[in-house]
Amino acid sequence: MDQDSYKAGVAEAFNQAAASYDRMGVEFFTPMGRRLVERAAPRRGDRVLDIGCGRGACLFPAAAMVGPRGRVLGIDIAAAMIEAAAEEAERRRIGNVELRVMDAEYPELPERSFDVVLGSYSVIFLPDAPAALARYARVLVRRGRIAFTSPVFTDDTFPFLPPVFADLIPRSLLRDLPPQWRPEELRRRFNGWLQEVADLERTLRRAGFCDVEVADEPVRLVAASGETWVDWSHTQGMRLLWQHLGAAEARRLRERLIAGLDALREDGGPLVIETPVRFVTARAAG
Ligand SMILES: C[S@@+](CC[C@H](N)C(=O)[O-])C[C@H]1O[C@@H](n2cnc3c(N)ncnc32)[C@H](O)[C@@H]1O
Repeated sequence: MDQDSYKAGVAEAFNQAAASYDRMGVEFFTPMGRRLVERAAPRRGDRVLDIGCGRGACLFPAAAMVGPRGRVLGIDIAAAMIEAAAEEAERRRIGNVELRVMDAEYPELPERSFDVVLGSYSVIFLPDAPAALARYARVLVRRGRIAFTSPVFTDDTFPFLPPVFADLIPRSLLRDLPPQWRPEELRRRFNGWLQEVADLERTLRRAGFCDVEVADEPVRLVAASGETWVDWSHTQGMRLLWQHLGAAEARRLRERLIAGLDALREDGGPLVIETPVRFVTARAAG
C-alpha cells in the first residue's frame, strides 16, 4: 500500500471515530496525555506543538501549563478531530490554543518556532517517523524538548494492545488480516525503530536529538465492563482490526472479548488493565 492510501485510511478511520473518541467511559488517552505533559514539563510562556493531537489529551493540559503568555498548536490529519478539539477549546474558553489540519509527517511550520513538541500515540502512525523526527528537531529551538508515547510492542497480539489480549484474540484472526495490517508487517514497516531502546536512541540521535530518556510505565486503563471496552476499541487503533473482520467473525470476537474481559473484573468492579506505555523524551541538539 502506498503512503497516500495508507494515510487516507488512517484519516478516514479517525474521522469516523472522532465524535466518540475518548468519550466512551474508558479512561486511557486522557491520563496518558496528562502524564506525557508532566514528563515534558512545558514552562510558562512556552510554545508547544502537539502532533496528532486528536481531541486534546495533551493539548489541554499543555495549554494550562504554558499559561496565557504561551501557546499550543495542535495538528492532526483527521479534520473531525480538529473540529472536535476546537469546539472543546471554545466551550472551555481556552484562548491559547490553535488547531490545524496538517500531516504531522511534513509539518509546514517555521524553523526554531517551538519550545516543546508532544505526540501521544501518534508518532506510531507516521510511515517514516524517523524522517519526521528530524523535521521536529528543526522546528524546535536549540535544547527544545520532544516527548512522545507509543505502545510497548509485543509480538503476541495486535500492535496497539497490551499483552493480556494475547490470550483473548486468536492468532488466526491476525494471520488472516491483509498483509499490510498484520502485526509483524506493521512493526517492520513503520515501528521497528521503536521496539528496542538502543534503536530508538540511535534514531533520535540521527534525527538531531540528545539526552534521550525512555521509560516504560503502566497507564491504568479503566472501563466499566468488557462490553464498554469492546465498544471503545472501535474508536482507537484496534478499529483497524475490526474493519477487516467479516460480520460473523466480528460477532464471535466481540463475545469472546466481553466474556474474557469481564472475567478479569473483581467483584463486579470496573475492568482495570495496566497497559504498558513507552514514554520517550529528548532534547534538540541544535
Ligand atoms: C491514537 S490517536 C491519539 C490522539 C491524541 N494524541 C490522544 O492521545 O488522545 C492518534 C491520532 O494521530 C492522528 N494522526 C495519524 N496520522 C497522522 C498524520 N500523518 N498526521 C497528523 N495526525 C495523524 C490521528 O488522526 C489521531 O487523531
